[in-house]
Amino acid sequence: MADILFKWSDDYTVGVAEIDEQHKELVRLLNDLHQAIHERHGSDASRKILNELAEYTRVHFAVEESLMRITHYPDFENHKKIHEALIQQVVELQNKLDSGTAKISFELLHFLKQWLMHHIVESDKLFGAFFTHSKASANWMPPPQAGEQQKSRWKFW
Ligand SMILES: [Fe+2]
Repeated sequence: MADILFKWSDDYTVGVAEIDEQHKELVRLLNDLHQAIHERHGSDASRKILNELAEYTRVHFAVEESLMRITHYPDFENHKKIHEALIQQVVELQNKLDSGTAKISFELLHFLKQWLMHHIVESDKLFGAFFTHSKASANWMPPPQAGEQQKSRWKFW
């Protein structure tokens, strides 16, 4: 049994349940890929996990970006560019794997791990703090006033 590549800790929690759950799933897939390589499950098996990881990353980025859009996150454009750059790199990698000019390696895994760790800690946490704050203000209700009917307020969810 290989050492775990990416050990989850609460330091990576951004405070938005949906995002945190998806980050854990990304970490799980990354660890699965690491294990498959370490135990030499073969290139088909590792490629399958990598494709799953790439697909789940797209879904996850789309979720994050839609939460950013609905909350009018000021750093949205920049954050989206960071996501797109990674997706682009992964597509290039997949093409290289298809043409046989690259192999899934431990270096690649360490790159993905470092990318995810830094992205969570440096970028997603900023959004997490912003989101928690916006959500709190969106749910804020004024104290009911006599004679005035309370208006329903739009909530993020
Ligand atoms: Fe992100």
